[in-house]
Order: sequence, then structure tokens, then C-alpha cells
Amino acid sequence: MNLLDIGNTPFVELATISLNGNRVFSKCEFLNPSGSHKDRTYLNIVSELERSGEIEPGMILVDCSTGNGGAALAWIGRAKGYGVKIFMPEGMTEERKTQIRSFGAQIIETPKEEFLSGAVARAKSYRATNLSSGIYFLDQSENILNREAWNICGKEIVAALKGLDVVPDFFVCSIGTGGTFSGIAEILKREYKNIKTVGIEVDSSAPLYAKRNDLVFKHCSHNLMGLGAGVLSANTVSALIDEIRVVDGPASWARMKRFIAEERLAVGPTCGANILICEEIAAAFSNKNIVTLFFYSSWKYKSRWDGNYPEYSEVQ
Ligand SMILES: Cc1ncc(COP(=O)(O)O)c(C=O)c1O
Repeated sequence: MNLLDIGNTPFVELATISLNGNRVFSKCEFLNPSGSHKDRTYLNIVSELERSGEIEPGMILVDCSTGNGGAALAWIGRAKGYGVKIFMPEGMTEERKTQIRSFGAQIIETPKEEFLSGAVARAKSYRATNLSSGIYFLDQSENILNREAWNICGKEIVAALKGLDVVPDFFVCSIGTGGTFSGIAEILKREYKNIKTVGIEVDSSAPLYAKRNDLVFKHCSHNLMGLGAGVLSANTVSALIDEIRVVDGPASWARMKRFIAEERLAVGPTCGANILICEEIAAAFSNKNIVTLFFYSSWKYKSRWDGNYPEYSEVQ
């Protein structure tokens, strides 16, 4: 098996979400080797930085993550011969921490009060104080090699749709850094002039939704880790987002659990958010083709199956 056999994931139709003659399709990114979509992100970032001569095996790669990105970077870093350090807010699931460490990477937990912005600040300061020692801060939030990784996935989706003779009407996807959404949307918009793209933010931390609706943005804690970091990342390209909707964290968890039971695809909570918005659209239209994505596997969250993050319940 090639450890870096990443991408070319299955594209499936979701039988249990069909409504009003609408069809919903999803790209199964949770089937990548480390169990999440972030394998694509980091394979592209690391490979492109190698190609441009900015990094080479033996160096230490640093980034911030609530866990999926960290596991993906740890996996790829080990396969390619790098050390990996992940700055991660306190309170993330034990499964993901164990996974990252078992791939040989080091975790530096950062204060929960600062959530991801604190992890980024600490990673930057670590990098700044270790300038000459072969340390590279990859910065998935600001590095546009993140978004570029998703152009490849966009092309795979186009090929799959063509194979099925389906023209998509909607692309629906949650936004964390926005790399996944923007990289795919760019390709789909180029190929399908009439497609409508719908981005999703968690209601407790929705900077783009606030901006578009003239609301004051306030980051509040939530239980959809990977979304709602509290900042708009450079990888979120507003021009590619036709509409932005918000979801509730507990409702997304509940929808994920029902989906796992009904469809037998073990996907995680932010996939529940994608399903909820696909259903909102399916309830409002008929005979449309809706494309979404499943980011990651539910096993990474089994120790928090109630969806509670007590560390974050009082932190605003
Ligand atoms: C669980 C989960 N879902 C969705 C996302 C969103 O992906 P992106 O950062 O590409 O917007 C992330 C990002 O970290 C994530 O961890």
C-alpha cells in the first residue's frame, strides 16, 4: 500500500436524503488514509513546498489544528521524513490526540480561552523564536496551497458527475479555513455556469454570515470543531460563495447520528451540518441535483458522543 495514496475517493448518491425528486451526492473524503479530508490539504501543501525548494525531509513542520489537520500532517510528515508539531486548543477529543501521537508527531496544547487564534499565535511565536533550526510553519489557514489542493477534488467531482450524466444545481459545504469549499467551488463554477454554491458556518461563530447581513460578528464557543475558528481565513474566497447559511451545532450532531444509523456511513458532526443544509434546499426545491462532501470519520469523536465540550461551554 502506498501511504500517500490520497484522493480519488468514492462519490455516492445518498438514498435516504432524496426528497421532492431532488438527488443528493457526496464526495467521501473521510475515506482518506488518516480518516479526513485534510490528507489532501497537507499532501498538496507539503509536496508543493518541496517542489519549490522551501522545505526538505529532516525539517520540522508546524501547524495549528483541532485534530483532523494535525493527524493528516502527522501521517504525511512521517511518510515523507519530517518531524511534525501540532498546536492544538485544549479539550479536543482523545482519539485525535492519540492518532496524532501514534503517527509520531508532537502536540502542544494551547489555552482553551484563546481557541484556535491562540494556537496560531503560539505557533507563530514558536516559529519566530526558532528561525534558524529547520522549522517551517505551514499555516493551513492563510496558505493558498490549501485551497489549490481542492481544485483536484473539484475535477474528480466533475468527472464523477459526467460519468453519471448529472448536471449539479447546488454545491453545499461547510467552511473552516474555507480551502475545501473554495477549491472545489472554483472548479464547479468554471464547469457549470448555473450552479449555486452555498457555504455553511456554525451559528455561534459565523463571520461571513455576519458580514453579509450587516451584523456585528462575535465568536462564541460551539461544538462543531473544525468550523467557526473566529476569523475569516484567506482560503475563504467570498466571490465563490453565492449564499451563506448557518447551522446549529447540536442539531448537526443529532443529524449525523441519525444519518449513521440510516445510511451506515460513519461520518462526523460537520458532515451532519452539510446534510442539514442539503435537506433545507431539498425541501425548498424539486428535481435538483445537490453535491456535498463528507469531511471525516465519526470514530474520531466517539469519546465525546454526547457532543459536549465542557471546556468550551463557558468560554466565549
Ligand atoms: C471536522 C471538519 N469539518 C470541516 C472542516 C472545514 O474544512 P476547511 O478547513 O477546508 O474549510 C474542517 C477543517 O478543519 C474540519 O476539521
